[in-house]
Amino acid sequence: MPTIIENNAFRKLGLKHPLIVAPMAGGPSSPELVAAASAAGALGSAGAAYSSPAEIENFAAQVRQRTNRPFAINLFIPHPIPPIEPGTIERAIAATAKYRAELDLPAPRFSGPYEEDFDAQFEAVVRIRPAVFSFVFGLLSAEHIRAARKAGVLLIGTATTPEEAQLLEESGVDAITLQGFEAGGHRGIFDPEAADREVGIRELLAQGIKRVGVPLIAAGGIMTAEDIRAGLAAGAQAVQMGTAFLATSEAGTSAPYRSKLLEPARKTRTTRAFSGRLARGIENRFMGAMTAEAVMPFPAQNKFTRDIRSASTARGSADFLSLWAGTGQGDLWQGPASELIGQLFSK
Ligand SMILES: Cc1cc2nc3c(=O)[nH]c(=O)nc-3n(C[C@H](O)[C@H](O)[C@H](O)COP(=O)(O)O)c2cc1C
Repeated sequence: MPTIIENNAFRKLGLKHPLIVAPMAGGPSSPELVAAASAAGALGSAGAAYSSPAEIENFAAQVRQRTNRPFAINLFIPHPIPPIEPGTIERAIAATAKYRAELDLPAPRFSGPYEEDFDAQFEAVVRIRPAVFSFVFGLLSAEHIRAARKAGVLLIGTATTPEEAQLLEESGVDAITLQGFEAGGHRGIFDPEAADREVGIRELLAQGIKRVGVPLIAAGGIMTAEDIRAGLAAGAQAVQMGTAFLATSEAGTSAPYRSKLLEPARKTRTTRAFSGRLARGIENRFMGAMTAEAVMPFPAQNKFTRDIRSASTARGSADFLSLWAGTGQGDLWQGPASELIGQLFSK
């Protein structure tokens, strides 16, 4: 099975390694990390979901100042937000009141919009014309697919089940990231309210290969050269790695988050506590304290907890941070990303 490097659609990217350094929205994907990954022969990815169109353009310009190699921009596919019952808002406010008091935060002022305007973000992507646009949480509309094609941008969708992979292939994407249950960060499940089918990467890859013809990218718990070889041997044409790059010198990961990542034996689980969508992160106080009844739907909960997370970072505390990380263990590399990539592909 040819890797993405030899695959017709992707050959023009001229990648040296079948590796995508994962988009990591919320800070870790700095322009420095994206540029370093791409300059080292992988595909760096900008996690732009929480950024305004102007911020996305600025980010891309910063990457392009550092390298002329191809990179990806990644966004979240939006979904209609269900009406939020006043009782749910009251419970969310009550459940977080003591933490806001502990962090000297005022009572929350809570109103929409809860997220950036996707169409405006997407228009910025089309203006930038990155080599690749990747997305998560669903399907891209036919109109958006046409606009990306016209701009010469390759499309990579994200699936957590074989059925989602099939739907992505039918929609006309160029490749699919299969995100196993092991993966750090948000679960890419299309339906924000659906239960997690919890399909591990091996099973997902085995099923995906049977069902779809486009190149598959394996993600979730991939940490070592051996893991990469196993993924490629199982039929993936590339791998996508996030957690392994979180402590690199270029990553925008905050200091308290880094400290938790560097503790031995990271214990992770999935939670809706921070954003309202399931995501995998290292267990901490906030995750343990929030019960399902006190959590609003995505992305309302994400906006609602932002002040708490920011104040926690400012105090150097990891107690209230979303500490996204996958199940993969082992010491994280703290040097330049290029050296990690060199080590991963040294043989
Ligand atoms: C801190 C963090 C942030 C992430 N943010 C995004 C994102 O913005 N978009 C996305 O498609 N995936 C995101 N992911 C998921 C990655 O694309 C990928 O599936 C995951 O990192 C693979 O698992 P691993 O972390 O075990 O390598 C994020 C992962 C992490 C760890």
